[in-house]
Amino acid sequence: MTTPVAQIVDAAAYARAVEDVVRAAAAYYTDGTSPLDDDTYDRMVRGITAWEADHPDQVLPDSPTGKVAGGAVEGDIPHTIAMLSLDNVFSPEQFTAWTASLARRLGHAAERYSVEPKLDGLAIAARYTQGRLTRLITRGDGTAGEDVSHAMGTIEGLPETLAEPVSVEVRGEVLMTGTQFEHANEVRTAHGGQPFANPRNAAAGTLRAKERAYTVPMTFFGYALLPLPDTDDALAARLDDLAHSELMALAAELGVDTTATTVVPGVTAATTDEVLTRVRHIAALRAELPFGIDGIVIKADLAADQKAAGSGSRAPRWAIAYKLPAVEKITRLLEVEWNVGRTGIIAPRGVLEPVEIDGSTITYATLHNPADITRRDLRLGDQVMVHRAGDVIPRIEAPVAHLRTGAEKPIAFPEVCPRCGSAIDTGQERWRCEQGRNCHLVASLSYAAGRDQLDIEGLGATRVVQLVEAGLVADLADLFTLTREQLLGLERMGETSTDNLLAALSTARTRPLSRVLCALGIRGTGRSMSRRIARHFATMDNIRAADAEQIQQVEGIGAEKAPAIVAELAELAGLIDKLAAAGVNMTEPGAVHAPVDATDAETEAGTALTVTASEPPAGPLAGMAVVVTGAMTGSLEKLTRNEMNELIERAGGRASSSVSRKTSLVVAGEGAGSKRTKAENLGIRLVTPDEFAILTADYVDHADHAEQAG
Ligand code: IVH
Repeated sequence: MTTPVAQIVDAAAYARAVEDVVRAAAAYYTDGTSPLDDDTYDRMVRGITAWEADHPDQVLPDSPTGKVAGGAVEGDIPHTIAMLSLDNVFSPEQFTAWTASLARRLGHAAERYSVEPKLDGLAIAARYTQGRLTRLITRGDGTAGEDVSHAMGTIEGLPETLAEPVSVEVRGEVLMTGTQFEHANEVRTAHGGQPFANPRNAAAGTLRAKERAYTVPMTFFGYALLPLPDTDDALAARLDDLAHSELMALAAELGVDTTATTVVPGVTAATTDEVLTRVRHIAALRAELPFGIDGIVIKADLAADQKAAGSGSRAPRWAIAYKLPAVEKITRLLEVEWNVGRTGIIAPRGVLEPVEIDGSTITYATLHNPADITRRDLRLGDQVMVHRAGDVIPRIEAPVAHLRTGAEKPIAFPEVCPRCGSAIDTGQERWRCEQGRNCHLVASLSYAAGRDQLDIEGLGATRVVQLVEAGLVADLADLFTLTREQLLGLERMGETSTDNLLAALSTARTRPLSRVLCALGIRGTGRSMSRRIARHFATMDNIRAADAEQIQQVEGIGAEKAPAIVAELAELAGLIDKLAAAGVNMTEPGAVHAPVDATDAETEAGTALTVTASEPPAGPLAGMAVVVTGAMTGSLEKLTRNEMNELIERAGGRASSSVSRKTSLVVAGEGAGSKRTKAENLGIRLVTPDEFAILTADYVDHADHAEQAG
């Protein structure tokens, strides 16, 4: 994590910091813009707080610390009960200290906690009168907020009528999902507007915009349910007594989406350890969530505990935000590079002024495709919001348009392939060199020779370059017709290296069809998809004879991908013939393809259909979904994850990367972490690598081991 506090050295720096923060907050709450990213903002506020603690006599009247966060805009609708903020903790130790102080206050440990995502949007109060949505109010300064009722009907999760005609106020967070954000910016720039920098700014700006030619959807998740002055007494008394988790269940029954309906639903936990396990779990899923979170909120669940703890003027004492490291920073887009991949795809990549996000320095960010650049209205020299969470490749969310100086330049798109100078096929969103795989032959051959494809030992990138430059290899199939003399004629190729490479090539000829298919690098099909296709069709001939509809019968191939695969196979026809002629195996061991030439499966129109029926899987893992996590040991030590997945599939199972209720078995090796914990929580069967090796002993591919030993 970056230093959590901005150091303030003297009164002048303090005054400047207060001014900057107040200005940023005002801009943010008026139109969703801010010259500071969240992390910088938070660090400055903490710096101000620290300085004020040491200099209590010099606190400025407009300091942001004295107010409820976001107090820059005064609204005109009073809140019935103040909309408070939350105090923060940043580590397990700080969280444990907080539970201890809560316990001191209560005279006992909190009976139970509720743990839910801290949604990164903006707070809103939604008032329902006799079951009808009548008013939407922003938080404002916490005591009064702005009327944003014009946004009613544009917020998913906030229905216009409830399941029962009750009068209640639901409070929660309005946000944009990643998809809604992309859509909002697309619509906005198409109308000549400037893009929003990130989903939260987009939600803030959209919510407050009164008259706009278009509406864009947003999303709501509730985190509080309270009575209004006209709520009937019995219901008011009930709401007052219900635990937070029960209130969320009630809100859901009334038809409102809550934190409980998100993909990381709120749960209750009995102990500090249980809370921290859940915190780690939610944090681990952060990068995959459809919406942004900036932490986890932990609340004393029971109404009695909440009442006993009470609230301060800024935040309740019964709840705390466990903040996660910032995943966004603003930096400058210096340049756009255009790289050609192994299939000929020309992909743009942003070169950034180096910026540190959550401990790593980021200098590049993906930009997907040219259309993406146009949609985002990106320009060279722009300040851009960069997002990086978990192991996912950093991405540019959007330009921070209000920071433009006018010196920004348009991004030039290449007119010819930047690698080989050939024409570019711009027919699809992703541009491609017309030479396709041949453009970057070295990359495509190195990929094909890789361990998870044909696994050709001794054929690293340097050797590939040598072969291509010597003119010996112009496509994948040429590798298999290399002669001893040709190889010996190369520099640094002695007798031993030559014989080893020829032996490795002979072994590569015998690899299963799934590996060959993967080596071809068909776009959109990776290792596991290649295995599924190979198992389904059993032979290359069957695959090539299949039409899109038949390809679509393979699990995971949809209506969009199927025709693309068929087209790609047609493009590769010459190469596949050449590989087969060079003796490369084109069948999948153990797979059976049962084409039912169905005179009895005729359609109404009388056309005969060929129905493909794969054999039901046999083997010790038949019908099981298996997840491998941690480091493998013993006889499985040498296997890559891909080889483990192959083994699972040979033994009849289905390899999967994430643990869910549908998982049947988890192989947990050394250092297994969150997946193991999740399996334990869900009561899923766990085995050690050794136990798994015994279970699948009959299905081990001895070629894997023999070759690695040799
Ligand atoms: S509870 C009195 N729960 O975070 C309790 N707040 O930094 C007040 N937020 O003002 C809030 N997710 O806008 C709560 N699950 C959640 C939340 C959440 C996001 C926001 C909310 C609050 C801010 C404090």
